[in-house]
Amino acid sequence: MALQAALLPSTLSVPKKGNLAAVVKDTAAFLSVPQKKLLQVPSLSVRAQAVATAPVATPGASTATKDGKKTLRQGVVVITGASSGLGLAAAKALAETGKWHVVMACRDFLKTAKAAKGAGMAEGSYTIMHLDLASLDSVRQFVDNFRRAGMPLDSLVCNAAIYRPTARTPTFTADGYEMSVGVNHLGHFLLARLLLDDLQKSDYPSRRLIILGSITGNTNTLAGNIPPKAGLGDLRGLAGGLRGQNGSAMIDGSESFDGAKAYKDSKICNMLTMQELHRRYHEETGITFASLYPGCIATTGLFREHIPLFRLLFPPFQKFITKGFVSEAESGKRLAQVVSDPSLTKSGVYWSWNKDSASFENQLSQEASDPEKARKLWEISEKLVGLA
Ligand SMILES: NC(=O)c1ccc[n+]([C@@H]2O[C@H](COP(=O)([O-])OP(=O)(O)OC[C@H]3O[C@@H](n4cnc5c(N)ncnc54)[C@H](OP(=O)(O)O)[C@@H]3O)[C@@H](O)[C@H]2O)c1
Repeated sequence: MALQAALLPSTLSVPKKGNLAAVVKDTAAFLSVPQKKLLQVPSLSVRAQAVATAPVATPGASTATKDGKKTLRQGVVVITGASSGLGLAAAKALAETGKWHVVMACRDFLKTAKAAKGAGMAEGSYTIMHLDLASLDSVRQFVDNFRRAGMPLDSLVCNAAIYRPTARTPTFTADGYEMSVGVNHLGHFLLARLLLDDLQKSDYPSRRLIILGSITGNTNTLAGNIPPKAGLGDLRGLAGGLRGQNGSAMIDGSESFDGAKAYKDSKICNMLTMQELHRRYHEETGITFASLYPGCIATTGLFREHIPLFRLLFPPFQKFITKGFVSEAESGKRLAQVVSDPSLTKSGVYWSWNKDSASFENQLSQEASDPEKARKLWEISEKLVGLA
């Protein structure tokens, strides 16, 4: 079943036409403007069936060697959307250290298997499990499958996303929610909430839950001020279920749909959710909650729905004009750092990097750090994903 599901094509819409003005606008919108062995997981063959094998006993986080020295077991990190771009680069960077076993949580099994091989990831250093964030049932099924596999969970990275910059009509998830917010926020919201228990059970010294943010959702940046600006309003569209028929498909309740804004709004949700998780759970659990802006990775599949001219011009524009370009490999190292660097244990932080690739705590916009909005978003999201 899982393998069959993994073979199903995804439900993305067809790109729409665009014009040069849109190219320039969206290019600007992605400007990088910094501110201020455990567990040797058995049978890690890249087969969906491996997910259903007998559970593995989880030893303590460290084991004593013959000479009495303690060694830390291999950590297990789940990365959503690891079939391309940032997720794949981070999966590779972490797996290569030998310190991490990577669970690649992806909607397209064969694409992911090919991508892992193509990236040179060693067999046995990763497991692929099916996850389609556009279906809340699939999220629950993934959590079941992960638990059946008997692995501990030491780190979770909510990385997958879709971006529909030219879309003027909404598409919907299996549960009937507008796709960008449904995948980028609601799917991850349910996943994070369900896997919190597993993170809590882990005996790994530093357990982390990371949700990808973006500069484009932060209106305190130049890029964040390029229209359409992100803005959740009073969340009336979300409260109405983002259905788009008798209500609005936009979080703020707008009548007209704007795919670029829907993506930016979903990114505010990601950053608010990270902070609300921090407020509710950090002290009690010790889990580190963090978000990050990895830089402008102009070559990833995120821009696949953009018009061809944009896709052609965007990478050289970022490399030679703004100089904000970050390679997939470099961005992967950045995300890997947030997963595993012993110095990045601070919770509630939104990480960014300067030109020398040194990490720093960045400021979020007023809206992306509004605790009251975060609380309200949490409560509505709980209802939409069936947790309340
Ligand atoms: N690129 C940038 O400049 C940039 C800047 C700031 C933040 N980010 C953030 O970085 C993250 C990764 O983006 P990227 O640039 O690496 O884009 P990408 O290459 O397009 O990767 C996105 C991943 O999400 C997966 N995905 C999409 N819909 C899914 C679904 N319904 N269920 C499960 N997985 C799904 C894709 O799977 P398929 O391979 O099956 O399509 C792909 O693996 C995103 O959160 C994005 O917002 C990117």
